Amino acid sequence: MTDRLNERTARDESVHGPTADGPSASDRQPLLAPETRERIAAEIRRFPQRRTALLPALKMAQAQIGWLPPGSIAEVAGLVGVSHAAANELASFYSMLRLRPGGRSKVEVCVQLPCALAGGEKLLAVLSDALDIAPGEVTPDGSIELIRTAECFGACHRAPMCRVNDEYHEHLTPEATRGLIEALRAGTFEQPGANGNASPPAASSA
Ligand code: FES
Repeated sequence: MTDRLNERTARDESVHGPTADGPSASDRQPLLAPETRERIAAEIRRFPQRRTALLPALKMAQAQIGWLPPGSIAEVAGLVGVSHAAANELASFYSMLRLRPGGRSKVEVCVQLPCALAGGEKLLAVLSDALDIAPGEVTPDGSIELIRTAECFGACHRAPMCRVNDEYHEHLTPEATRGLIEALRAGTFEQPGANGNASPPAASSA
């Protein structure tokens, strides 16, 4: 994928120059905050080739906004100096990059092997039934998004587990899971504006 992206980017740059189809700043309201733009600029300076900073730059944009609207991808492309098409291609490739807004609260269930062996899939199914949404969906009121994770949260020894926004819930027994569902239904975990902000592992709360 990286080779394909680099080839395509190099071809674009050789034909159009580094920012040929980046955002036209004059007629677009910037989505990226000045601080985010500064962080991206600092990231670009770390690498001999600007386009190497594309993935971290997209993650920085997502950390600010919560997801990646098309305009933000165009802004990142312009800052990094790659084509909008190349930035879109990368943003579409990685599941950790979000091309649509999520729920106000994120419930991420780990189903990687150690957790799956300890009941992760069953936990996901129970939450899916209780919330009446499939993994990857958002409840109709936009409050909760259920996610099947593609990453280990580093809490394998405390499986089954999930992360609700910034909070880890581990050793989830049926009783603890019922309590979690009640709290989700009551909106206890809603953190407006927190979607998209991943956090480092925290202490067990279950
Ligand atoms: S496999 Fe689930 S936390 Fe590591």
